[in-house]
Amino acid sequence: MQAEPLAREPYSALAAVYDRVMHDVPYADWFSYIRQHWQSPGLLIDLFSGTGIVARTAAAFGFTAISLDQSYAMLCRASGFRAQANALQLPIATGIAAACTATNCSINYLLSLGELNEFFAECHRVLRPGGLLALDFCPPERAWTMHKQKFEAPSTVVFYHEFDAERYLLTSRVTVLRESSAARSEIHHQRIFTQAEIADSVAAAGFANATFTPNYGLPVPVGVSPIMTLTARAASSASRKRA
Ligand SMILES: C[S@@+](CC[C@H](N)C(=O)[O-])C[C@H]1O[C@@H](n2cnc3c(N)ncnc32)[C@H](O)[C@@H]1O
Repeated sequence: MQAEPLAREPYSALAAVYDRVMHDVPYADWFSYIRQHWQSPGLLIDLFSGTGIVARTAAAFGFTAISLDQSYAMLCRASGFRAQANALQLPIATGIAAACTATNCSINYLLSLGELNEFFAECHRVLRPGGLLALDFCPPERAWTMHKQKFEAPSTVVFYHEFDAERYLLTSRVTVLRESSAARSEIHHQRIFTQAEIADSVAAAGFANATFTPNYGLPVPVGVSPIMTLTARAASSASRKRA
């Protein structure tokens, strides 16, 4: 089946099959890891929430979560508390969150170091002192292993990736296959950040105790470079000023 040449908005077509494509992602194990680092539970804000899988997982563990995402098509598939929002301008009051999460390499959708800095500053603003930031990202080593690779979920979707190592840009063509009509393609752009860039950015925003761990502490399949997990704690505004 021919994919139409027109590139659509990211997640406009993918939204319909996203949960199916991600069915084997171990979100419950990821959440257990996050839970281990979460000292004083309260409100969880899940950023780049997509279809709300993390909020649903958190609810199963007994937590209240709000899902925020800029894609209406993705949020339509979520349930519970949710709002359409850009991760750089959160519609959340200052200091009310106990944790902010951003899973499945979502921060790579921020396309510059400036945006990354803004994002961490927003997370710090909405978190209460001591609040937890927990997220994962695609490091350059992993982006390299994806270069010119095709991944297919049979009869559902095909991903084709290209990594521009000079611009640290991962471009993915995502083709959603449909039985009864033409396939639909969309282009995703992701900025690949180094661990050092992320460590600097998160510290500048006022976070402390940044810890990087491959793949939420889970076993890493042989031959695959893992996603990296970051946990950090919001320092108080006072200690941020002193830093
Ligand atoms: C890879 S999906 C991750 C969804 C979910 N966190 C998960 O773990 O399955 C990335 C999501 O980020 C959203 N997104 C990308 N850029 C965004 C931005 N600037 N603000 C808010 N959401 C954004 C997309 O709409 C998409 O739903």
